[in-house]
Amino acid sequence: MNSNEIRDRFLKFFTARGHTIIPSASLIPENDPSVLFITAGMQPLGPYLLGQIHPAGTRLVDVQKCVRTTDIDDISDNTHLTFFQMLGNWSLGDYFKEEAIKWSYELLISKEEGFGLDPKRLYVTIFAGDDNSPLDEESKQIWQSIGVPAHRIYALPAENNWWSPGANGPCGPDTEMFYDVTEKGLGDLSLAEFLVADTRREVVEIWNDVFMEYEKKDGLVIGKLTQKNVDTGAGLERLAMVLQKKTNVYETDLFSTLISSIQSQAKVSDQKAERIIVDHLRAGVFMMADGVLPANTDRGYILRRLLRRAIRFADQLVLPADFLVDLIKQIIIQYSDFYIELKTNEEKIITVFTSEKEKFRSALEKGLTEFEKNIKGKKSLSAPEAFALYSSYGLPIDIIIDLAREKNITVDIKGFDLAMKSHQELSKAGSDQKFKGGLGGNSEQIIRYHTATHLLHQALRDVLGPEVVQKGSNITDERLRFDFAYSAKLNDEQKQAVEKIVNEKIQASLSVQQVILPKAEAEQSGAHHLFSEKYGDEVSVYFIGSDLASAYSKEFCGGPHVTNTGELGHFKIIKEEAISAGVRRIKAILE
Ligand code: ALA
Repeated sequence: MNSNEIRDRFLKFFTARGHTIIPSASLIPENDPSVLFITAGMQPLGPYLLGQIHPAGTRLVDVQKCVRTTDIDDISDNTHLTFFQMLGNWSLGDYFKEEAIKWSYELLISKEEGFGLDPKRLYVTIFAGDDNSPLDEESKQIWQSIGVPAHRIYALPAENNWWSPGANGPCGPDTEMFYDVTEKGLGDLSLAEFLVADTRREVVEIWNDVFMEYEKKDGLVIGKLTQKNVDTGAGLERLAMVLQKKTNVYETDLFSTLISSIQSQAKVSDQKAERIIVDHLRAGVFMMADGVLPANTDRGYILRRLLRRAIRFADQLVLPADFLVDLIKQIIIQYSDFYIELKTNEEKIITVFTSEKEKFRSALEKGLTEFEKNIKGKKSLSAPEAFALYSSYGLPIDIIIDLAREKNITVDIKGFDLAMKSHQELSKAGSDQKFKGGLGGNSEQIIRYHTATHLLHQALRDVLGPEVVQKGSNITDERLRFDFAYSAKLNDEQKQAVEKIVNEKIQASLSVQQVILPKAEAEQSGAHHLFSEKYGDEVSVYFIGSDLASAYSKEFCGGPHVTNTGELGHFKIIKEEAISAGVRRIKAILE
């Protein structure tokens, strides 16, 4: 079944069940400065999940264009893509768990109307329950009533089966469908075996039904929405992979002719490079069609990085000079049946790409000269040097690493990543401020508040005890806001004690330092971290004091921070209040 047919069948199945087809929203979020790109179908529908009336009714179906750049390092593995198409059916306060689950199952299994998948290869997960919401017994019962055996239904914690798009907005427990893609078939699996099969990609998540009836504010579930919604997401690329019996997305019809075209023209063959080129160029084409232009910050930088990386890999494969423009044209032809905006913007896409390619060529030349200067007589390139090559010459880090590797030089990649993160956080903080109509972000003040937040966190624990756990944090250039678990209102003495400690630590002019540690080691050091957050194998820890062991404050944190607490000024709590049961909020300023 080719991808067009999969898309068609999905849309037809739900229109036959009273759903109205709505078009994909642009990849650029409207009225939402908190994200660079649309990453899920629910984002553009946020207001309607919260109760606003949708003009197309209460049952909708769509194919939403999405970009997820958190997975950028996984590109060229079997299932991750920068751009993908998310199929979704929606209930806006209409049907709920029963219909959603039954229809998902029917569409997956039915040969006539659906995808004809083998029910014996299907596994499902449900939400195990926590303080916010109980075990999703109802979904379990529904799955069992339609024939999925109880031992193939796994209850997993919020980390796996609670879906929310970020710290704010609608959210809820979900039930996810996984399909066995192994040749022999895995049969029944215990929970532990199922989790292993998932990490090995022997089972692949193909669909997620989210039961959005809760709302989050600043990272905390604050209660139920006025209506019960269903938000589902099935990645077209993954469904195509499963239905076309491939073990990776690049062998599906969505990519195979593009890959063949590279292979027929390249002088060198390299599977990873081929995959990166088609992934990045396809994502770039869709971004440019929606009006993104290459730049050095925010979404423009993502586009720049994708295009330059594709050009660089095309160089490695020794492809003809204008080959990437041909490939762009092929992408446009292949996708414009469904995405007419590609065809209407073809000229613009090619012009933007060609100009970016020229800029990159000249940047590469200048950057190379600077790079040669930097490395003379050295064995390594420091983070500031690498960052300058990026910020002044537009050399993306991937390319700096390639160049260094050719010369046997090491690069402080982690340091670069952190510098980049701070740079982006600050430019985002700056643009948020602009967005609010202020005079532009005072980023230094924001950094001061960030360090003050770490001091406050530890001081609260000193005064109130280890019951204090961070629940949220929000900083502007005018104040810090810190939410934490604690059962009672703070009295004046406690507030004064906290202020006194923070001010003592400021007056002591303690140094603020960063270390990168393996996660287990960072945990052993006693550094605070958020249990709700997923961390990589290596984490960045900021500590305040002369060394990690004796430091006053230690936290898992990406920065940025001031280098010395002496820079903070005088700390003062201006408000202390409850925001929900057992959660307090402090607002404080630096004077
Ligand atoms: N919003 C859900 C997801 O993206 C369906 O997985």
